[in-house]
Amino acid sequence: FKIPEIHNEPMKSYPPGSEDRANLKAALNELKSSAPFEIPVYVNGEEIRTGQIVEQRIPSDHKTVLAKYHEADSSIVEKAIKGALAVKPIWETYPFSDRSAIFLKAADLAAGKYRYKLLAATMLGQGKNTWQAEIDSAAELIDFWRFNCKYAAEIYQQQPPKNAPGVWNRVEYRPLEGFVYAISPFNFTAIGGNLPSAPALMGNVILWKPSPNAALSNWIIMEILREAGLPDGVIQFIPGPAQEITDQILKSPDFASLHFTGSTFVFKKLWKEIGNNIDIYKSYPRIVGETGGKNFHVIHESASVKNAVNQTIRGAFEYQGQKCSACSRVYVPDSLWDNFRENLLSELSKIKVGPMDGYIEWAKSDADSQIIAGGTYDDSKGYFVNPTVIVTKNPKSRTMCEEIFGYKASEYEQILDLANETSPYALTGSIKLRHASGNFYINDKSTGAIVGQQPFGGSRSSGTNDKAGSPALLYRFTSMRTIKENF
Ligand code: ALA
Repeated sequence: FKIPEIHNEPMKSYPPGSEDRANLKAALNELKSSAPFEIPVYVNGEEIRTGQIVEQRIPSDHKTVLAKYHEADSSIVEKAIKGALAVKPIWETYPFSDRSAIFLKAADLAAGKYRYKLLAATMLGQGKNTWQAEIDSAAELIDFWRFNCKYAAEIYQQQPPKNAPGVWNRVEYRPLEGFVYAISPFNFTAIGGNLPSAPALMGNVILWKPSPNAALSNWIIMEILREAGLPDGVIQFIPGPAQEITDQILKSPDFASLHFTGSTFVFKKLWKEIGNNIDIYKSYPRIVGETGGKNFHVIHESASVKNAVNQTIRGAFEYQGQKCSACSRVYVPDSLWDNFRENLLSELSKIKVGPMDGYIEWAKSDADSQIIAGGTYDDSKGYFVNPTVIVTKNPKSRTMCEEIFGYKASEYEQILDLANETSPYALTGSIKLRHASGNFYINDKSTGAIVGQQPFGGSRSSGTNDKAGSPALLYRFTSMRTIKENF
């Protein structure tokens, strides 16, 4: 089976006066006027309204409730596990051509009919501007669905290179034995889509707990998958109380894999819980996680300051710095510092904004830290914090090590060592001219991996580095069987 030729989804720019812009405005108005949108639990193809309601508010206008979702309880989780396991034998015998057709159709629906609705839900619910939402819920989501099909088709074709005389060998890429538990984050609608979809494409069944702060966009993804023909029970949409749901799921003998994007702290906690439960499980769970980052830009003295400032501002402050890949440390050589600082402050002052977190308060009280921009906030209507730059003399400062930006150093090699050693994270790094990070960019910022071009993921405390947007991720959700036949 051959997947049609795949390209990255072309991005729209929504210029004033364009039809795209009018369509997007209409979708935004429609969501706002129909808010709060009611979101059910969705198990075995059945919409369940438990009456246990949680609100998703608009972060830039926190008095407005965008959606209200029903929470799954323990009986629903049990039903979801049973239902998923019941449909598993049917789903895994679907030919790959049929499974991929569903995700290719979902991609076309997200690119067409649902594009503006998904964009509007991502903008309002997750605090993105139009461009950031387009990168996410249009381009990346669609690319994940399409490229995963291409990569899976390639995986299924990989066979042992040798047969001995009278021996026929082959391998099968079977789904895992049991179900996958997907826990997705608020900051990327596309990740919400990929976490359950990648294992489903490989023939697995999934329990999906979306983030409360991305409930609406994630529910729209579920609607798209339904419309694309995903059989009931393959992906069970179970928003709800994280701890209770997770404890229950991790106690199931059929728990076969965790597919997680979120904080390092929670990932480690879940890993320990899985370790404690190891004797319960029928198989060793595959643990796949993408977690925190403390991503850096290293500026070489040969760099163009204007370009380095531009990329640093984009890497650090696009989507308000809420990408796991966001630049959070910058190392500037002494020879460029004055020029860099002046340009940075001048460009920063042009950013229009708006809760300040503890790091800013901490930096105010730390003798080695100096806040040279921002440090202020306004939460009267929405949660806005001004772009903030902290200069520190201490390379081991909390603001340089913990996930949440500048350090001046005189020697370039010293900078590289500092960038490499000071933080337990290794997600993205960028250098305006080789060191620890899962994604390393030369002459570019630390954000903005494109599916099909830069497989994405981090090592060390940043994750299991299984690279979303690559065959490596899909292999994690397969259990190979080797068959040898003598004849
Ligand atoms: N994949 C996203 C990026 O590269 C997080 O910015």
